[in-house]
Amino acid sequence: MPAVTYSLDEFINDMSSLVESQPDQAKLFDQGSTQLQRLIQNPEAIPEEYRLPTGTGPRANHGSYLLHQAPSGLSITAVVWGPGDLALPHDHGTWGMIGVLANTMTETRYRRLDDRSRDDFALLEHDRITEVKPGEVTLLIPDVDEIHQMNNLTDIPTAEIHVYGIDLRGWDRRQYNVETGAIKHFATAKWDNC
Ligand SMILES: [Fe+2]
Repeated sequence: MPAVTYSLDEFINDMSSLVESQPDQAKLFDQGSTQLQRLIQNPEAIPEEYRLPTGTGPRANHGSYLLHQAPSGLSITAVVWGPGDLALPHDHGTWGMIGVLANTMTETRYRRLDDRSRDDFALLEHDRITEVKPGEVTLLIPDVDEIHQMNNLTDIPTAEIHVYGIDLRGWDRRQYNVETGAIKHFATAKWDNC
């Protein structure tokens, strides 16, 4: 039986239709993650250059490449973490799904325990560490389960597809200092905030 390849274009079409149908959160994550899992079965679904760090500039050991940006906000990027690359604990301010295409991502999740009344302080508790493997999807559920740290602890690049509900460029987001509780607001001009 011939292999049936699910292309990036098909994924973009299916995700766009799903988002435009304004599904509830359960349906969005259920159907969306199934589609993303289907896409990442095939690492060749995106060009090789999008599966490698940029190799230049201030973050040469990282890569982020825009694959699709829709007026609805739907944002699809390829993200690459070189060996040792990381992102400290942060949130996203929108729903998200991350699928690993190649290698492994170590994801640490935190629970927020305070009442969220302060914009400059958060009490976080370590929740879990997951080794996310190729073909697996991890979900970012706003306000419920989305604060995470990302580490590539291996010696080869980790390639992922990220899907978000908004264009993250310029979006006000928060980075958390787990030790002190300090919240630092940040935004990036590019889509390299993942
Ligand atoms: Fe993230």
